[in-house]
Amino acid sequence: MAGLAVAARAFSASASAGAGGVAMVQGASRGIGLEFVRQLLRRSDQGRVVATCRAPASAAELQKLKEEHAPGRLTVLPLDVTDESTIEAAAASIGETHGSLDLLINSTGILSIPNVIQPETTLSKVQKSSLLLAYEVNAVGPILVIKHMWPLLKVGGRSETGRGFSLVANMSARVSSIGDNGLGGWHSYRASKTALNHDEDSVSRAWQEGQHCLHSATSRNRGH
Ligand SMILES: NC(=O)c1ccc[n+]([C@@H]2O[C@H](COP(=O)([O-])OP(=O)(O)OC[C@H]3O[C@@H](n4cnc5c(N)ncnc54)[C@H](OP(=O)(O)O)[C@@H]3O)[C@@H](O)[C@H]2O)c1
Repeated sequence: MAGLAVAARAFSASASAGAGGVAMVQGASRGIGLEFVRQLLRRSDQGRVVATCRAPASAAELQKLKEEHAPGRLTVLPLDVTDESTIEAAAASIGETHGSLDLLINSTGILSIPNVIQPETTLSKVQKSSLLLAYEVNAVGPILVIKHMWPLLKVGGRSETGRGFSLVANMSARVSSIGDNGLGGWHSYRASKTALNHDEDSVSRAWQEGQHCLHSATSRNRGH
């Protein structure tokens, strides 16, 4: 899990370097995203965190964390990566409240949803609908989130964090690696995460000098 360590260092640096800053965790209602939120809140008593998921009212753990911390430290916003208007709305809300972003963690990802999508064990189980859904959520979604948060990230990473640059971390997966693909299968998930890696690479090249786009994957060999 090398990438998890890299992402952990990213949010650790963001939270502890200075007085705080603003971090966004996208896909935060449970699992790894929820733990990022928990750790960010724990590591600094001043940093502000924006957590997103599709249905904030049903995200019990996030609501509990919000109650446990001072007003304004944790904001929970609705965001569905398959609905670009919700990404735009989240960006507008963060812009109004905070004016910038210092750290963006894209954690949303799907591998298996009962009766909708399953990791394919053989080629005969591959379905167009699964390929497209995985691609939409795992690859298209995170890139659209970066696109809409880009103006906020461009003004972030400055005085409050003491780092001088903002960070983006995308949760990829070891199985996205072409070089490390020993078993095959899992066509939808593998291909969508590889696509994410590739576009992340393009985003990092467009990043302006002085700012950093962090590559976060669970393998050192991401899709090469
Ligand atoms: N767990 C692992 O061992 C592992 C290994 C390698 C890589 N990863 C990657 O790490 C990331 C996190 O994994 P996890 O195990 O923590 O996943 P998880 O527990 O299934 O959580 C996924 C998160 O994504 C959100 N989500 C799902 N569909 C969404 C959509 N359309 N729009 C917005 N949010 C959506 C969910 O929120 P709502 O459903 O509440 O909206 C939830 O907060 C994923 O990208 C995964 O591929 C995980």
